Amino acid sequence: MVESASADVTLLRKRLQRERKARREAEQIAERITRQLYESLSDVRELQEAQRQLTDELERRVEERTGELARANLSLKKQAAELERSNLELQQFAYIASHDLQAPLRAIGGFVQLLRDTYSGRMDEQADAWIAHTVAGVERMQTLIRDLLAYSKIESRGRPFEAIDSREVFDQVIEGLEASIRDSNAQVTCSELPTVAGDRSQLLQLLQNLVGNAIKYHGDQPPRVHVSAEKKGSEWVFSVSDNGIGIDPKHYRRIFEIFRRLHTQQVYPGTGIGLAICRRVVQRHGGRIWVESEPGRGSTFVFSLPERSTT
Ligand SMILES: Nc1ncnc2c1ncn2[C@@H]1O[C@H](COP(=O)(O)OP(=O)(O)O)[C@@H](O)[C@H]1O
Ligand SMILES: [Mg+2]
Repeated sequence: MVESASADVTLLRKRLQRERKARREAEQIAERITRQLYESLSDVRELQEAQRQLTDELERRVEERTGELARANLSLKKQAAELERSNLELQQFAYIASHDLQAPLRAIGGFVQLLRDTYSGRMDEQADAWIAHTVAGVERMQTLIRDLLAYSKIESRGRPFEAIDSREVFDQVIEGLEASIRDSNAQVTCSELPTVAGDRSQLLQLLQNLVGNAIKYHGDQPPRVHVSAEKKGSEWVFSVSDNGIGIDPKHYRRIFEIFRRLHTQQVYPGTGIGLAICRRVVQRHGGRIWVESEPGRGSTFVFSLPERSTT
């Protein structure tokens, strides 16, 4: 009985020892897990901190860039306003200069013609030739000033847009160019033309300059000119094509600049203002103008006019 009781005690003690050991081990594992948890937690905190710093830095840079952009925008706006102002001033200057030059020039022209009509043949040949040169010079200057005046008036004296039947404009152009059509034996035709929103007198100048050029810059063949229009998206695209001398691609852009000419007065007379007027008119109407051509194979001048309600 006593023996069996002591065996029980030994067994119990051993069990107790095993359990204590197991518990110590469990405690150690728990401690290790806790430590690792702490470590990873501090890693997470470090990561969070790094992320916060990055976000701060990013925000600071975005703010800096936004400020820079706003400043650049403001200075750009100022420059655009300044440019517009000086452009207007320049146009006004060109307008006043050409307008005021007309009166004295008219007086000079009148008196020189009077001199020619009264004294022609009564002085020597040299005097007659000089007077003839003066008359021609005055006439050329009058043409230049008239064109310059037309050019400077496009922006400053434009009229509000209205519905314009471009076929009527075409008929008016033919009427205006009657003499040169007859002289050059030209044939000017058109397809069906639309009603567009625009400034009548400016659209007349535009078409008159393009058709006038198409007749003027012809080669050996009598001029054949055709005007057509096609709807493309929200635009009307007009074409004025001829069978004339054509234009080298290297001059495609430059011919639209004011006073830019490719010929001398003797070969083809002109002021070099016509296409500059065309470009301005088209720009004022919100469109574009360009040329497609090949030397010797004719040219096609193309311009677009946005289709929009009249104002
Ligand atoms: N239809 C055309 N065919 C060939 N060349 C042209 C044509 N239209 C214009 N050009 C060229 O473009 C130049 C500029 O034309 P424009 O501004 O009308 O001035 P201008 O007719 O008074 O010379 C012309 O001198 C000519 O060389
Ligand atoms: Mg011209």
